[in-house]
Amino acid sequence: MSEFQYRNGELHAENVALSSIAAQYGTPCYVYSRRAIEQAYLAWDQALDGVPHLVCFAVKANSNLGVLNVLARLGAGFDIVSGGELERVLAAGGRADRVVFSGLGKTEEEMRRALQVGIKCFNVESAAELERLQKVAAELGVKAPVSLRVNPDVDAMTHPYISTGLKENKFGIDIAQAVAIYRRAASLPNLDIQGADCHIGSQLTDDTPLLDALDRMLVLIDQLAEEGIQVRHLDLGGGLGVTYQNETPPTPGEYLGRVREKVAGRDLTLLFEPGRSIVANAGVLLTRVNLLKPTEHKNFAIIDAAMNDLIRPALYSAWMGIDAVRPRDDVPTLNWDLVGPVCETGDFLGKDRELALAEGDLLAVRSAGAYGFVMSSNYNSRPRAAEVMVEDSVTHLVRRRETVAELFAGESLLPEA
Ligand code: LLP
Repeated sequence: MSEFQYRNGELHAENVALSSIAAQYGTPCYVYSRRAIEQAYLAWDQALDGVPHLVCFAVKANSNLGVLNVLARLGAGFDIVSGGELERVLAAGGRADRVVFSGLGKTEEEMRRALQVGIKCFNVESAAELERLQKVAAELGVKAPVSLRVNPDVDAMTHPYISTGLKENKFGIDIAQAVAIYRRAASLPNLDIQGADCHIGSQLTDDTPLLDALDRMLVLIDQLAEEGIQVRHLDLGGGLGVTYQNETPPTPGEYLGRVREKVAGRDLTLLFEPGRSIVANAGVLLTRVNLLKPTEHKNFAIIDAAMNDLIRPALYSAWMGIDAVRPRDDVPTLNWDLVGPVCETGDFLGKDRELALAEGDLLAVRSAGAYGFVMSSNYNSRPRAAEVMVEDSVTHLVRRRETVAELFAGESLLPEA
């Protein structure tokens, strides 16, 4: 059951009315439900009960310290893609030895820091990265735990911008070359082969491609075993989709049940890197109608959130649900385009939405907990939104609204002539 429900004619986050959050913290504002995050994480963790496993939350989906802290307290692992994300995990109380480091452009500095704090594993994405990691680990006199991110060449059947497991994508090591590169890894003295991993894309609403990728990874693991290379863990990445509109993705329990069947009897620890499926439906973006601009052709509602706050509709033509916080029946229902004040035609959060609106009304953009705030920018010199975590009937400001002064605090004028 969603933690965002209508009660007494008003949308609530857990037991807090969204209008009271808007009154206290202003808009636009991201609102997260602690209980929703916990339940989504536990759905993964509990579905893996009885098999050795680690659920590593993909920090890129939502890197707010409050969110990471909620997950760290449950014992979650974390999937990071930068030194910045590593520092966030540590600052949020996450354990370094539960961190896997993905991403195809790790710098020597990032590798060094990750080795010093003792992360669980590097997901290596190229032969060149392997050599670099060997060099950095040798300089520090340690062994780097590695897994190769393999590109299994399966079509995730999702939006091309978030599909990553095809041969033509930049990610991972071609599965045809994987054995040779594992052999090389095994020969390098400062690398310790721990696992194999893949991640084929995001917002998958059918798990068939994920299970196809799993089959291919198991074949690879058997080939490696024949060469005397023992892989201890298999990391299947993230990618499980969520419902934005009327998609019907498998639940984590259904997907993981099928994974468990395929790996039964194998001596493998299972790792996953879910992002969206843990936080997307645990958050909304709260925004206020600033002005109404009905025209002959279109009705525009200009809201105070914009593409800089939530870029998914502009970037991927993503459909996000948008609901009135307090639905009203005293004005006519019309078809509205919900647009922000940014000077771009692509600045919309929703088009053709049937809503009864008046100036000053509050709206909630649904499923905004993943790839929402983290992808926001300061375009048009707009300070970034506040973020609030709801815990039953209490609210915590987990990121205060940025100020205009902060926007150019690091900039300077030229010296006097
Ligand atoms: N692991 C790796 C290596 C990834 O690249 C990603 C996502 C994940 C895990 C988490 O995937 P998830 O469970 O969230 O699907 N900004 C886009 C999504 C980009 C996903 C990038 N990689 C969006 O808003 O739809």
